[in-house]
Amino acid sequence: MEFKKYISKNIKTTHKIAQTILEELMLDINHAQQALIVILKGELGTGKTEFVKGLKDFLNIKSNVLSPTFVVMKVYDINKNNSVFKKLYHFDLYRLINNQTHNLNIDNDLANISIQDVFNNPSNIVFVEWGEDIPMLNKYKIITIEIKMANERERKITINYPNTSAGKKAKSKVDKLLT
Ligand SMILES: Nc1ncnc2c1ncn2[C@@H]1O[C@H](COP(=O)(O)OP(=O)(O)O)[C@@H](O)[C@H]1O
Ligand SMILES: [Mg+2]
Repeated sequence: MEFKKYISKNIKTTHKIAQTILEELMLDINHAQQALIVILKGELGTGKTEFVKGLKDFLNIKSNVLSPTFVVMKVYDINKNNSVFKKLYHFDLYRLINNQTHNLNIDNDLANISIQDVFNNPSNIVFVEWGEDIPMLNKYKIITIEIKMANERERKITINYPNTSAGKKAKSKVDKLLT
C-alpha cells in the first residue's frame, strides 16, 4: 500500500479524482475474489458521499445518488458498457455505529443483512462510510480514502493505493490530474 495526499480545491476535482481512481481499479484482477471495496473516512460533511456522487455518469448510473445516512445502504445498477461490475453498494454505518456499544454487535447486525454476500461478490463495487472500525471488514482487501476539510471548498484527500499495477497506474493518473 502506498499513501498519497492531495488537495482538492473544489467538488469537480473530487469527482474527477473518484472517476480516475475507479477507472484504473476496476481493471485490477486482484479483486477477482471479492468486491472492489473502498472505505471512505472523514468527519461529517467532508465529502465522502460527494465522492461517490462523482461516479454517477462514469458508471452510467441512471438514478440519483443520494446519501444512505438514513437507510444505511443504497444500491445502484451500473450500466457502463462492458463493465464486469454490475452493482454499486453505498453504505453509511454512522447510525449503526452510534447506536451500538461495541463492534461485535455491528458485526451481528451486518451479518443479518447478509452483507458478506455483498463483499464477496466480485461484480460489486462497495463504498463504506464509517466502516474503518468494523472488524468484519478486516478479512478483505480494502482501499482507504480519507477526506479532511481544509476550508469550505478545499479538501485534503489521502489515498491508500493498492500495491498493484492498477494501483500504480491510478496513482500516476491522479498525480497528473492535480499538477
Ligand atoms: N472540494 C470538495 N470536495 C467534496 N465536497 C465538497 C468540496 N467543497 C465543498 N464540498 C461540499 O461539502 C459537502 C460534503 O457533503 P457530503 O458528501 O454529504 O459529506 P459526508 O458524506 O462526508 O458527510 C457537500 O455539500 C459538498 O458540496
Ligand atoms: Mg455521507
